[in-house]
Amino acid sequence: MTPADRAVAAFAARFPGQPSATVRSPGRVNLIGDHTDYNQGFVLPLAIDRTVRIALRPRDDDTVRVWSDHADEWAEFSLHSLARGSGWSAYLQGVSDELLKLGLRLTGWEGVIISDIPPGAGLSSSAALELGAAMAFAVVSGFEWEPVEMALLCQRAENDWVGVNCGIMDQLICATGEVDRALLIDCRDLTRSPAPIPPEVAIVVLDTGTRRNLVGSVYNERRESCETAAKALGVPALRDLDIETLESRRDRLDPVVYRRARHVINENQRTLRMTEYLEGGELVGAGHLMQQSHVSLRDDFEVSSEALNAMTVAALRSPGCYGARMTGGGFGGSCVALVGAEAVAAFQTEALERYHAAVGLRGTIIPIRASSGVSFELLD
Ligand code: GLA
Repeated sequence: MTPADRAVAAFAARFPGQPSATVRSPGRVNLIGDHTDYNQGFVLPLAIDRTVRIALRPRDDDTVRVWSDHADEWAEFSLHSLARGSGWSAYLQGVSDELLKLGLRLTGWEGVIISDIPPGAGLSSSAALELGAAMAFAVVSGFEWEPVEMALLCQRAENDWVGVNCGIMDQLICATGEVDRALLIDCRDLTRSPAPIPPEVAIVVLDTGTRRNLVGSVYNERRESCETAAKALGVPALRDLDIETLESRRDRLDPVVYRRARHVINENQRTLRMTEYLEGGELVGAGHLMQQSHVSLRDDFEVSSEALNAMTVAALRSPGCYGARMTGGGFGGSCVALVGAEAVAAFQTEALERYHAAVGLRGTIIPIRASSGVSFELLD
């Protein structure tokens, strides 16, 4: 059964009759460029073939009624009395609220949501849910879909409704991802340039099995430190600084804030260079940049964890690995590794064994392919 068929079957288990459409909304993995997006810097993510799927049909009132297979529960709300709350329904309500703020006339809908993006694994299951919900509204309400605008809208929903001051990376790659490519995104002007994934390598996602929720965590605090640094150094965002300027003005910053800024500035440079290396097929150089990125996230930005560090080391010592690093927000979730295509099978087995030997936890390999952004299909 295809994922779309599974969504239709899940619909049939909860509703009489047929859905009128299915929506497909991908997760993402970030190759390099973490905690740079909200500093108006550069990121290099790819949308993946792990997706949120929604099977749905319009209603003739203003109610949204949805079953989530993963949460094993219903969410139901009226578009005229949205309520702040927690859990997965908050993402749907936050997106509804932002769409209503645009003055759009929204139609209610009912359906089911299924997902094979493991939540909390650093693969952006929340952005996938947000964009999927926005697309569901577009399908039933018939408004025009503009991917960048919709990504920004979903980011606002997460910032204002859910309370995580995330950057734009997750929503934008979910909205605009491309098959077999990563995208270099300039998070200032939101322009995107495709970066090839050389055929001789595979991108392997290694889930540590550890989780940390971003809400109420140090994520917002990290962002504040970056904004403090930019202000103290007299620039609109850390994107506008080079490392020499940072060093020359170091005495203006608290030592911790200085290290946060150093990570962001160096990570932006690494992200740009990584794109060039991928274009030139310079895999050894690309792998080194991933290493440096991990060390910087671990020591300067301090968003790694024992499990992420152990998984990175385990990956590096396994066959065919050019480089490995934690990916996404941090504190738990997954690592990403660049691995010679011929060595992938041996790499995966050995990396998980080494990880288990180091921390006593069972990690998982999540096979992925770069895929396209959110889409829908009408059913007859
Ligand atoms: C989370 C956020 C993104 C980004 C990453 C770190 O995934 O949602 O905006 O900041 O962390 O790169």
